[in-house]
Amino acid sequence: SMKDTIDVLLSEDVINTRIRELAAQIDADYAGESVTLLCTLKGAVFFACELAKRITIPVFMEFIQTASYEGTQSTGTVSMKLDIPEEDVAGKHLIIIEDVIDTGRTLSVVKEMMLKRNPASLKVCTLLDKHECRVVPFEGDYIGFTIGNEFVVGYGLDFDQKYRNLPYVGVIR
Ligand code: IMP
Ligand code: MG
Repeated sequence: SMKDTIDVLLSEDVINTRIRELAAQIDADYAGESVTLLCTLKGAVFFACELAKRITIPVFMEFIQTASYEGTQSTGTVSMKLDIPEEDVAGKHLIIIEDVIDTGRTLSVVKEMMLKRNPASLKVCTLLDKHECRVVPFEGDYIGFTIGNEFVVGYGLDFDQKYRNLPYVGVIR
């Protein structure tokens, strides 16, 4: 219910400080270029917007959506609900923006799919990395925070579509 108790894991201040650092790193790594942030709906929207606002080189925004997580159990299959045309990827410096890398299944599929469309470069930026939960090997390039094996909500992350709007990342007690 909406009466769940949520413990703060990462405060808004801590997250925003880290996002500023990631933006500065992207500014430095892509100096003189522009980047296309490929945001995965819905969870990464909050993170992608905050990151985009702090990047000073030219930024383009694109959106894709993969199959959603059911409750706290991954279905293990990945499908595209919303895709973008090949010409929006070809020749672009693409950075896939994700809320959390858990098993690694989603991003390994998405990354392979995007690589076939010949981007100028392709990196992955995630707010959260549950590194110990990998089922398939996958490494992000820009990691906000590495966290343990716990189900988190807020800052875009949901539990059955709830709690995305929390301004912090928390754990349902
Ligand atoms: P993966 O394919 O297992 O890496 O799963 C990535 C997706 O699972 C994310 O984009 C989230 O939608 C969802 N997910 C994984 N862990 C969590 C969590 O702790 N809270 C909310 N969503 C999660
Ligand atoms: Mg989700």
